[in-house]
Amino acid sequence: MVKETFISKQAIEEMLALSGPDALDLREKASRVRDDCVGRKVYFRGLIEFSNLCANDCFYCGIRKSNRKTERYTMTYDEIMDCARFCQEAGYASVVLQSGERRDPDFIRFVIKVVSGIKAELPEMRITLSVGEQDREVFRRFYEAGIERYLLRIESSSRRHYQRLHPEVMSFERRRKCLEVLRSIGFQVGSGVMIGSPFQTLGDLAGDLLFMKAMDIDMVGMGPYVPHRDNLLKNWNYDAEKTLELSLNMVAALRIMMPDINIAATSALQALDGSGREKALSAGANVIMPNATPLKYRQSYSLYDNRPCVTDSPYGCRSCIMKKIEESGFLPATGEKGDSPRFLKRVENNINVCNC
Ligand code: 5AD
Ligand code: FES
Repeated sequence: MVKETFISKQAIEEMLALSGPDALDLREKASRVRDDCVGRKVYFRGLIEFSNLCANDCFYCGIRKSNRKTERYTMTYDEIMDCARFCQEAGYASVVLQSGERRDPDFIRFVIKVVSGIKAELPEMRITLSVGEQDREVFRRFYEAGIERYLLRIESSSRRHYQRLHPEVMSFERRRKCLEVLRSIGFQVGSGVMIGSPFQTLGDLAGDLLFMKAMDIDMVGMGPYVPHRDNLLKNWNYDAEKTLELSLNMVAALRIMMPDINIAATSALQALDGSGREKALSAGANVIMPNATPLKYRQSYSLYDNRPCVTDSPYGCRSCIMKKIEESGFLPATGEKGDSPRFLKRVENNINVCNC
């Protein structure tokens, strides 16, 4: 029986500041909470990065619209369908369709066509969409087309910090509001932040975890900030080792605060440490997103430098990750949808706290 307890902002900051053996203790504690509440199964989401065109200009991101060095692509309908079929065969009962942010009608129509195609051919496949901020009406059309889950990282829950990472036209308030709209429509709502990003304080990160809790987020993907050669923040004094430790502490603290949500071991962790994702599983994560994007496009989805798996095929990623999960003592939940237990409880029982 795992009960949610209130943890103060100061206590969270103290957890995040831990290092060495104390940090390992924290992660072990979080791992036990995960075992008790959601078990040791690892759920898969096949990641299909179907376009790197983006209308935004986040200062940290390699695919921001004003980075002219990025070669732009959008996969065809048939290519995306092939990826979805691969995911089905690979035992990923869920796909994440991710792209840069676009709001133009052609793009919205294309997304709906793709989703409808996947649902018609693979009706059991769970679809998560991650294409950024949209109007309520568009979110509703996505939901009606069969998308059950939506991932929209808040990136930073501190208005001050958010504004330092984004151009003025991007509004923290609008992004936060989108999360509320998604919840009200009925999606399983995912969010997350970058960890160790420029100008960020431990207080900001503790606030991020409290934000996830206050918004009652169902699934979280938080990854380390990793510099990109063409981004606008490259002079930031970056410490990869510290960022990795902080990221793992964030995963552990969140698991302790929200025992029954889905937490992803994000790919960016692997850019800092070849075993970064397995370390996140040992700190309380329970979801992995193997890359299912065709090899020829991977290099161009360059959010940050040293992206892992850019030379691996979807088949290569599958066998590599299965082996690593089993070696780390976890159970690959192939063929299982892995809905967020918190979401299921809210929907079925109309309650908001873990009572497992
Ligand atoms: N480092 C780490 N994560 C990044 N993202 C974008 N740029 C970077 C970076 N330099 C993340 C953002 C976005 C997700 C698709 O990729 O959090 O939401
Ligand atoms: Fe594309 Fe931030 S640069 S969403």
